[in-house]
Amino acid sequence: MDRPDKTTHFGFRDVPLDDKQRLVNSVFHSVASRYDLMNDLMSGGLHRVWKDIMVNTLDPPRGDRPFALLDVAGGTGDIAFRAAKAAGTGFHATVCDINLDMLRVGEARAVARHLDDRVSFIEGNAEELAFPDRAFDGYTIAFGIRNVPRIDRALSEAFRVLKPGSRFLCLEFSTVDMPGLDRLYELFSFKVIPPLGRAVTGDAESYQYLIESIRKFPKPAAFADMIRAAGFSRVNWQCLSCCIVALHSGWRL
Ligand SMILES: C[S@@+](CC[C@H](N)C(=O)[O-])C[C@H]1O[C@@H](n2cnc3c(N)ncnc32)[C@H](O)[C@@H]1O
Repeated sequence: MDRPDKTTHFGFRDVPLDDKQRLVNSVFHSVASRYDLMNDLMSGGLHRVWKDIMVNTLDPPRGDRPFALLDVAGGTGDIAFRAAKAAGTGFHATVCDINLDMLRVGEARAVARHLDDRVSFIEGNAEELAFPDRAFDGYTIAFGIRNVPRIDRALSEAFRVLKPGSRFLCLEFSTVDMPGLDRLYELFSFKVIPPLGRAVTGDAESYQYLIESIRKFPKPAAFADMIRAAGFSRVNWQCLSCCIVALHSGWRL
């Protein structure tokens, strides 16, 4: 049981652990309708490349072999749609997210893409998944885990719902490892992104939180230790774009 006085980070602020989820929910409530546009503007379209790399790594079967993907913190469905396009007829994705505003945008996108029979959307918390043990052939979480207050619980839940022999993949912002680019990236993050957020969504504060939360997220080696602690094997990670982003992998064996 967590002590009621336990704190965590909400961006650079220390907040009571139990308050973080409410604050995170208000961020995504505020930006949901323009979330996808902002991703393109902030990353210059690079988030599409990173997500494609994640789906290529997942490598869902192309044929009719059944494959059930759980995409947690799946928001507006980007990973699930990419995986559905890459996969064969046996594929089905469940997008689970705590925020109904994000899920509603995702459902409308699924209908527009004629993918609503292969991708379903369910409200739920990564820390307490409402799915049976060993139910899924793959688990993905993209740019989601740093928003979850109790990351260790989310990782244990990922392990629980995966079938033995299946893979956990997590795409998350990391720490730029190229001198020179790191300073440019800091400058761009703090000087450009919040004003851009204000111009596009009317909300600079949510984007201030997003960039601060990136700085507070554990470094790849420390996060890999957390993935191992949840029970995963063959844990590793791959830096993408000078480690702006890292793709973490683990197997439930
Ligand atoms: C940055 S978005 C990522 C969306 C999508 N995966 C993508 O890559 O475009 C983060 C998502 O995490 C969701 N989220 C935050 N806390 C969560 C939790 N405890 N359980 C499930 N989803 C959560 C938010 O609602 C939001 O949709």
